[in-house]
Order: sequence, then C-alpha cells, then structure tokens
Amino acid sequence: MIEYKNGVFGLHGEGFSCLLRVNAYGLLEQLHFGRPVRTEDAGAFLCHPGLGWGESVLLKEDDTESCPDGMPLAWSGSGRGDYRESPLELSGVPTDFRYDSHEIIDGIAQMESALPQAKGEAQTLKIKMVQPGGELTLYFSIFGGVLTRRAVLKNTGEQTLQITKIMSSLMDLPGDYEMTTFDGGWIAEMRKHTLPVLQNRVVNESTTGFSSHRHNPGFLLSSPDATEESGTVYGFNLVYSGNHYGAAQKSLQGFIRVVQGISPSNFIKALKPGERFETPEAVMAFSERGFGGMSEKMHRFVNTCIVPKQWQHKLRPVLFNNWEGCMFDFNHRRLVNLAKDAKELGCELFVLDDGWFGKRNSDKAGLGDYDVNKEKLPYGLSGLAKKINSMGMEFGLWFEPESVNPDSDLYRAHPDWALTDSFTPLLSRNQLLLDLSKRQVRDYIVEKVGFTLDSAPITYVKWDMNRHSVALGAKAHEYILGLYEVLDRIFTPRPRVLLESCSSGGNRFDLGMLCFGPQVWASDDTDPIERLTIQGNLSYLYPQSTMGAHVSAAPHAQTLRTTPLSTRGNVSFFGCLGYELDLKHLLKLEREQIKEQIAFYKKYREVFQFGTFRRLQRGWQVTKGKTALAATFRTVLPAAPGYETLALRDLEEEKCYQFSTFAQKLRIGQFGSLVKHVAPVDLDPNGMILRTADRLITMPDGNQKLTASGAALMAGVRLLPLFRGTGYDKNQRTLTDFGSDLYIIEEVETLENT
Ligand code: GLA
Repeated sequence: MIEYKNGVFGLHGEGFSCLLRVNAYGLLEQLHFGRPVRTEDAGAFLCHPGLGWGESVLLKEDDTESCPDGMPLAWSGSGRGDYRESPLELSGVPTDFRYDSHEIIDGIAQMESALPQAKGEAQTLKIKMVQPGGELTLYFSIFGGVLTRRAVLKNTGEQTLQITKIMSSLMDLPGDYEMTTFDGGWIAEMRKHTLPVLQNRVVNESTTGFSSHRHNPGFLLSSPDATEESGTVYGFNLVYSGNHYGAAQKSLQGFIRVVQGISPSNFIKALKPGERFETPEAVMAFSERGFGGMSEKMHRFVNTCIVPKQWQHKLRPVLFNNWEGCMFDFNHRRLVNLAKDAKELGCELFVLDDGWFGKRNSDKAGLGDYDVNKEKLPYGLSGLAKKINSMGMEFGLWFEPESVNPDSDLYRAHPDWALTDSFTPLLSRNQLLLDLSKRQVRDYIVEKVGFTLDSAPITYVKWDMNRHSVALGAKAHEYILGLYEVLDRIFTPRPRVLLESCSSGGNRFDLGMLCFGPQVWASDDTDPIERLTIQGNLSYLYPQSTMGAHVSAAPHAQTLRTTPLSTRGNVSFFGCLGYELDLKHLLKLEREQIKEQIAFYKKYREVFQFGTFRRLQRGWQVTKGKTALAATFRTVLPAAPGYETLALRDLEEEKCYQFSTFAQKLRIGQFGSLVKHVAPVDLDPNGMILRTADRLITMPDGNQKLTASGAALMAGVRLLPLFRGTGYDKNQRTLTDFGSDLYIIEEVETLENT
C-alpha cells in the first residue's frame, strides 16, 4: 500500500515500510526503509542537526538543517553540497533536482525502452523532480515483500546533455552493516565475500559489458549478528544484464549510502533535447528474519514477477544434454542412440548442444552460420527432432547467436557486423561479438533463429554467449538493449519454447535474462562439491527453479575430483535436473541408480523446484505442503566423526512426520584392500575379481526411518553414525568424503512407537 499523508510518502509492503518526505528544500529524504511502521511515524526518523558538523555547505545560510551532506536522502545532486556518492553526473555540470509533483498509480509504470521490468500485482509511486533543462522521474514500486526503483531523465532544455553516470536507486540507511558480494570467474562462480561497510567505499561492479561471473549484480547488506534465521538483512539486485554498479559507504553522520545502477565506468550517453533515458530497475528486499527471510522474499519475487508468465510455477523437464558426452563429435546415429538411453533412464527432453551447424567442428569456426551441418545430420534438425519425439521425448537446441567466428561465412560476408574498435580485433574463444546495436544484425539473428525454431519441433533453447567483453561506452548499454529486443522478438511469439540462458555457465546469471527465460545454466562446473558453493550462493538471491543443474561423469572435467553418483544427484535435485555425460559408458548399476534418481526427482519435482528453500548448517532443505526434502553434504570427513544432528525448518510443531532416507548404495570398490578382511580368500585390490565385483555388486548405505513431531525434527534429529574405522555396518552412513544423504519428511497421521 502506498499513501501520502502530511507531506510523507508511506510505502508499505509485506514485512517492510519505506518512508520518504520532501523537505523544506525540495530534496527527497529517505526517512526509513526497514521493519513495518506507520506513515504517521515519520517524526521518529527525522534528523536534528543542531549546530551541524562545522564544515557543512548549506543550502540556506545559518540553517544547519539545510546541509545536504548530512541528510538521509533517496536521491541527491552532484557538486551541490552533498559530497557523498552522487547518483547522476552530467559530464561535470552540477545536478540539483528538486521535487515538483507526484502520482500514485495502481500497477506498474510501463517502460518505454527495450529494458525488461518486473511485472505482476504492484503499486507505484512516481515522483517528478526538476532542475533547469531537466526533468527526472523516480519510480518506486511495491511487489509483495520487494521494493523496486528506477529513474528516467528527460532533457527539457536546448542543449545536449552528456550523461556520464545515472543510478537507478540511491538510499541512505542508518546503522552498521556488512556487504556481501558474489564474485568469481569461469567454473568458479558465486564465491561469497563479506566486508564491513565503513567510510571507505565497498563496490560491486562489472565492466566487461555483461552482468558477469566476476561480480554478480546481486549483493547483500546485513547486520553483523545476522544469521540464517535472525537479524537484519537487505538484498539488492538489478534487472539488467550489462555493466552494473552497486556500492555502499558510510558517512560521518552514520548513514550508509547504497547506490545501484549501470556502471559509470566508460559510460557516456548523449541526451538530445526532448530525449529520455531510462535506467534499469533496481530491486531490494528487507528482512528481519535473517538471510533466509530475505532469500524467501527474493525467491517469491523472481518466481512470480520476473520469469515469463507461462513458466511461472510450471514444472521443468528432466533433460539430457549431449555436450559433456560428445562435445563436437556426433552424428545422427550417435545422437539417436544417446536419446534412446536417455529416454530409458527417464529423461524427458533431449538437448543438442554446440556443433550442429555450419563448419562448427571445433570452437574455431562456424559461429554465425546457422545452417544445419548435413554431414553430421543428414536428416536435418527436423528428421532428428521427429525421431526423438517419436521416442517420447521433447527436443531442444543450442545457439550462440550473439557471436561470430572470423572463420565463418557470416563474417566473410559482413565483417562490419562484428563489434570491434579502432585497434586490432581481440578474440576470445576465437570469436567476436556481433554489433547488436545495428538493426540489420538484430534482424539477421531474429530471422535465422526464428526460422530454425520453426523448421523443427523445438521446445527448448539453450542461448549461449561465450565472448565476455563488449566495446566500451554507451555501446555496451545499446548492445544490451539490442539483445533484449532480439530475445523479445524471437521468444514472445513462441511461448512454447523453454529458454535457458547460458554464458560459459553463469557469466550472465541475472534478473534481466530471467525476464526472457526462466532458467540459467548455473555453471560449466558440474562437480557437485563446487556446485555446493555455486548453487548455495545463488540461492541467496535466486530460486532453485532458475538453476540448471546437471549430473556429469566423475572424475569431473573441471576439477578431476571423483564424487559418488548419489552426491551428484543429490546436489542437482535442488535445481532443474539434467544429465550430461556419455551414457554408453555407464555400468548397469549406474543406470539403475540414475533411473531411481530420475523417478525420485519426478515424484518430488514440485518441492525441489518450487518449495521454500533453506540453507541448513550442513545442507539444504525444500518444503512444500506436507512434504520436505533435506540433504546433508560432506566434503572431507575426519577420522572418528561424532554424531550429527539435522535441525529441520518450516515444519508444523504439532504435526507428525515420517523421516526416512532416500536409499543409496555403496560400491564394493570403495573399500579397496579392506575387502580381503571379510572375504574368505586373500583378494588383490587391483585384481580382476574385485574390479569385476565393483561393477556388479552394491551394498546398502544406512537407511534411517522414524516418525516424530515437527517440533522434534526442528529441534534436531540425531542421524545415523558415520564410518568410524570400525567396519561396515548397514546401520551407519558409510559414504565418506564427498558423500551426502537425502531425507524425505512427510506428514503422517500419528507417531509410531519407537
Ligand atoms: C559453453 C557452455 C557449455 C557448452 C559450450 C559449447 O562453454 O557453457 O555448456 O554449451 O559452450 O561450446
């Protein structure tokens, strides 16, 4: 609910209030953003500067209340008395926008550019600010528990304005906070770093042209005592896929200024008289129920206001992707055989990755030429897709439409379509980007991809982008606008197509891309131990339904680490499950295990994809209705480990639940030379007998089954003991390093006697 009372704007969402007022000088003060209060409470948040801080620049002489540098603001000027970080810079010309008028509207205010924005049930406050030659409109929208903000600058003067910096949001928050960012690189996305916010500025910025795996646009501010369940946490994100900037800095007066927007690094936009510039939409969520409470709000927001309507809460298929299994080496027969195997295991969608077009037999050539390679696929895409459909599976296809290899027919025909500068072109993965700010380039992509999608029964697209830098300046923003236009033109008329975006894994995991496709390939790293970090940290800001998570072969291509198949499954379950490995090399017992995994996932898919997600002490939990699923993950296990307790969340205290293990198997080979101690004969650990036995025989790992009240399970259930060097026991958990356990918690009528 948004209201305007006695000069105060009260923006009240689920679990938060934001109070703003226009002060005597026409500046927009940020009185409060935090726990729910009343609009009439504004007086409690007013500052009383008294004699001020001595060195202040005053808007009115002798009035210490008029010092902009000490005010908590929701927008500010530059070069006009507030020397904290400015939200708007016009190439050295001061800015000083003051309140003009406002409007409260039901719903959202539709953007005019190609930028995507949050949609759904909302209310919006529109505040118009003016200065000679310029008009600035600030938009504040409430979507349930989330607040969004953006700004639009209009040139109302006679001269062209040079925008060198324009933020989407600025707010000053009182208190002490730490800032958490999610940083990394290829196969190492989403590493979490936390720093206290003091008077030096903490910055989360991407300058590659894309939202990037170097620094995800989302970041957090949390009170130093915040936990998963308690304490104050603010989450911030941006509906944008280009260069971003987020920063926090504390003032001497004790306010933390937080800004969010497009990165000003090398940014310049000439705004001619009469023109407008729209910023992307900034997103923020407040929680006094810790990191978990903030994540819950962000997840709901993404699931209901960001992803395309037709995919909201829609179950996603279990897919098989041929990339890690085949790379560029495949033909129609090999794919059909893989598809047969995938179908038998339970997969529902077969995805053909890179290498199906032009002369694309390695990453050195062919990008840009989207004509089917008839040597590999003599029956074309349509022949292959129909064959796969006839087996009872859907068909999906990989594209990388934004890039071009210099060794391609497209580049030879249109070298000027590539995005270059005046220096020698720099390649990355042997490719250049196409200049998406050019109309004919956009038309080419829309036509080529659209034609291919209509040429065969294709219901899924993996949209990749493996060139991680774009030209500087306003071009970077125009590129992103061009990309959004292309995605809109291709996918809006084809709502049947499930779009999963990808950029060498998670190089473009952001809310902008999620507005067009509900899933993102989270990382090229499919090692489940690495995925604990990647998926676990993505979960702060993005729900499980957005994360592509595949089981691949071990040792892993990215880490050479060997992990149990059960752990690979257990980690991937907490996302959109897929399989990505050469199926022909699977052992019978592995096939059986994968079949069980897929059947299990299908049974609980709704809970895994759309349940309430919790980060537990050593694992994850999802809960929906009467069912919860919880996994505990181990990395390196010490000798003689003690008992472990699993404290669950989100159950009803009074209700009864059955708690049981999702059965897992142990391979004989895991025991190596120890087997000779139990076998009647002395067995060679490297000999034929043991190697053969390892391929054929499995032993059950500890299965736990009990009933207990929700209260007891939340207090913490004592898990079966782990392996302690004292032998195998079917009532212990023997999966050691990199092992994991998965538990099913289902509501039942009564407790059984124990
Ligand atoms: C990128 C993607 C991979 C795969 C390859 C194909 O690296 O992240 O998943 O599609 O490209 O070249």
